[in-house]
Amino acid sequence: TKKITIAIDGHSSTGKSTVAKQLAKKLGYIYVDTGAMYRAVTLYAMRKVMVTDDKLDEEALLRHLAFISIKFEFDKDLGYGVVHLNNENVEEEIRLMEVSNNVSKVAAIPQVRKMLVAQQQEIGKEGGVVMDGRDIGTVVFPNAELKLFMTASAEKRAERRYNELKQKGNDVSYEEVLKNVEERDHLDSTRETSPLVKAQDAIEIDNTNLSKEEQFDKILSLVKEKT
Ligand code: C5P
Repeated sequence: TKKITIAIDGHSSTGKSTVAKQLAKKLGYIYVDTGAMYRAVTLYAMRKVMVTDDKLDEEALLRHLAFISIKFEFDKDLGYGVVHLNNENVEEEIRLMEVSNNVSKVAAIPQVRKMLVAQQQEIGKEGGVVMDGRDIGTVVFPNAELKLFMTASAEKRAERRYNELKQKGNDVSYEEVLKNVEERDHLDSTRETSPLVKAQDAIEIDNTNLSKEEQFDKILSLVKEKT
């Protein structure tokens, strides 16, 4: 079977990364979490107080871009690459609510996107990759053999994300999570550069009422058609 490129885009907290990891494992492909890259740049900017809840110093961040290195290091226990910011493992820190609240502002900056997209294209150039994000099927790999667009109701997504954060011991409220999910969807879909849109040839998967198993089986059969 040939090694294809699988692009998974969609709204926030639709379980893209869960499916992508499962698929990569099953197929022996590389998994690339592009959201983690935008989150890591955001974390850098937060640490330097270039971005807060009510401001973004875009010029300062742009001056620093050349000093920001984002890399994936394979984690044997997890079975996929985890993101490193200037050689520091930030996999856990980038999942915090504070980062989620700021990431869409940083991800809207064209130069940030340009830098990360180039890196994503380099990582995936040989195929045999499952990449998840917002613009993978539209911008990063417009020729991907399989494009999925995942969605679910905002309430369902907030509920899942809330349970996940709670389980990790984070002190968050459901309302706060719902607000974040809705705000990010809005910012991601309305930004000027590479907005979140379904690629015309993407297959939409609404998983509001699908179990993880049902969804995986469905996606696996789509992969089989292409390989
Ligand atoms: O996938 P995740 O929810 O971790 O992504 C975090 C944020 O990063 C998104 O809300 C979006 O603003 C940005 N992002 C993006 N393009 C991608 C992946 C993520 O703009 N390819």
